[in-house]
Amino acid sequence: MSLGKKDIHVSDTAFVTCGFRRLNEKLSQDIYAKLWRNDKAELLLKDYTKHVSTEEIETHCIRNRYFLESLRLLIEKNQIETLINFGAGFSMYPYLLDGHITHIEIDKPEVVDYKSSVTKEWIKEGVLPHRNIDYIGVDFSTDYQNSVLNKIQNIQKDTSCFILIEGVLFFLNRKETESIFDFFDTIQSQGDFIGSVSYTDEILGTRAYDRLIDYASKGLDDASEGGLQCIENSFYEGLDHYKLIDHQDYFSCSKQFNHSPKSDPTDILNEHFYILQKK
Ligand SMILES: C[S@@+](CC[C@H](N)C(=O)[O-])C[C@H]1O[C@@H](n2cnc3c(N)ncnc32)[C@H](O)[C@@H]1O
Repeated sequence: MSLGKKDIHVSDTAFVTCGFRRLNEKLSQDIYAKLWRNDKAELLLKDYTKHVSTEEIETHCIRNRYFLESLRLLIEKNQIETLINFGAGFSMYPYLLDGHITHIEIDKPEVVDYKSSVTKEWIKEGVLPHRNIDYIGVDFSTDYQNSVLNKIQNIQKDTSCFILIEGVLFFLNRKETESIFDFFDTIQSQGDFIGSVSYTDEILGTRAYDRLIDYASKGLDDASEGGLQCIENSFYEGLDHYKLIDHQDYFSCSKQFNHSPKSDPTDILNEHFYILQKK
């Protein structure tokens, strides 16, 4: 099957990402990803891995694992009380982390509406443990800042926070990216953290990236204009109010989690993972 134009929405990518984590639960450590399995996402996942890169399963598992372990460590050290996940999709961190953490999940309205209603049922049925989660539906391509800031401040109060933006920046353009990082600066206080994921320019010219751009331009119909971007390391290193405290990628994390990449490097979409701390 090949998906034609206008078949894929950015929100569908959330199901697919979750599907990747289900396919190697040992590596991702996401024991709840399997709950979101559905037929459309399965078709998309198979079509995407076939046309772009079969290693996408493991790259996404490693990404989840890296942030899960980093978050667990910071929680153990009492450095985070609230996790704010921008573009949370169907990620399941709230249920994989200690129950005393407050969560704010932000995504497109159709994603958060669906996720909140389904998880509510699963909690009622005892499939998921109860967690303290608020959902905010918003499009990062609009002027969302004032209304979202009010909502976040009412929930977060004065607690220390970690903002995660994982698998999202590729869909935004540079102006939206700069604006969202300025927004993080407004929300956060000294000592708070950001976890971010993006591709660097090193990916340009790899076979997998050429195939990704070809696939996205044929099938994806609602990414931001000027999106599908790479972000250089200097963007993170140059943020005035943050210091970069960790920088990994698929290859370095594979070593850390005893995983051996299978494909030739040119057939792998190597994502970079960054953790920043507010000065
Ligand atoms: C590839 S998924 C990643 C989901 C999740 N972070 C994960 O790693 O499993 C991208 C997510 O970003 C959200 N997203 C992309 N562009 C967005 C926008 N302009 N406004 C709000 N959410 C957006 C999508 O709806 C989707 O849930």
